[in-house]
Amino acid sequence: MSTYRIAPSILSADFARLGEEVRNVVAAGADIIHFDVMDNHYVPNLTIGPLVCQAIRPHVQVPIDVHLMIKPVDRIIPDFAKAGANIITFHPEASEHIDRTLQLIRDSGCKAGLVFNPATPLNYLEHVMDKLDIILLMSVNPGFGGQSFIPETLKKIAAVRKLIDASGRDIMLEVDGGIKVDNIAAAAKAGADTFVAGSAIFGQPDYKAVINAMRANLAAQ
Ligand code: DX5
Ligand code: ZN
Repeated sequence: MSTYRIAPSILSADFARLGEEVRNVVAAGADIIHFDVMDNHYVPNLTIGPLVCQAIRPHVQVPIDVHLMIKPVDRIIPDFAKAGANIITFHPEASEHIDRTLQLIRDSGCKAGLVFNPATPLNYLEHVMDKLDIILLMSVNPGFGGQSFIPETLKKIAAVRKLIDASGRDIMLEVDGGIKVDNIAAAAKAGADTFVAGSAIFGQPDYKAVINAMRANLAAQ
């Protein structure tokens, strides 16, 4: 039985009330705050940066998980570390030197991870498993909240679960995109242990009811 973590994505929160939103979602049982950074270059949308990370940091004690959908990545990493990020992930296509970027994140004092788009092959993992604390599998194409889960991701989750188990390392396996109360158990069954959910949580009035329903389905699978 693994430890499951629920990571609400603030992309679907009310940005005008962000401090209150993150406090409320943590009070409702969130384990991690997922923080989506988009640059209108690597992905066709523009969101938030280190200043906003720094602004929400005093409002929550749980880890802040910064998902970088930006290119290039290296210059901004120390800024996020200083702004209070605990986990930083990036897409391998967005870095010229993947090993160096992973090391930069670790040297900044954060946990480091790679993110795989639905069509990105897993062979990027081959020579860097020893530098990974987390692997994030996208179950939608990155850029927007509220998209539908791509079922093919389940096979990819299972493949990564095997690689993690074979490595013997303690690497989190996170899934991001279209996660809802009714499909979270399937993602867990395939091998994921950390679940990003944006619209499923922030799109409902009662965050605790959604998180509890997710936990109930995780416990039942
Ligand atoms: C998409 C982001 C996701 C997004 C998930 O590019 O990386 O974290 O917020 O939103 P939902 O859960 O609504 O699919
Ligand atoms: Zn994300």
